[in-house]
Amino acid sequence: MEKLTVKICSGTSCFVMGAAQIQALEFTPPEDIADKIEIIEVRCMNHCKDIDATHRRGPFVMVGDELVSEATYEKVVNKIREVLNKDCK
Ligand code: FES
Repeated sequence: MEKLTVKICSGTSCFVMGAAQIQALEFTPPEDIADKIEIIEVRCMNHCKDIDATHRRGPFVMVGDELVSEATYEKVVNKIREVLNKDCK
């Protein structure tokens, strides 16, 4: 089974807003998703520069094709489970 790609922004803005805590997913992922995801740290994805999307704030994480804004460890884990469940149906 192909792994779900999780791209965590490590750009300055996202890092300052808490992306470092999300990077823990790389080392301590929940057991049920650990072998189903691939964590990739990426540079600024430019979502922080999208002035039209004022309702969106970092840190930003891409779970597959879905953008998670104001991301936290829990929020990203929940999105991963949601996407994995959707892909199974
Ligand atoms: S620093 Fe993360 S999207 Fe720009």
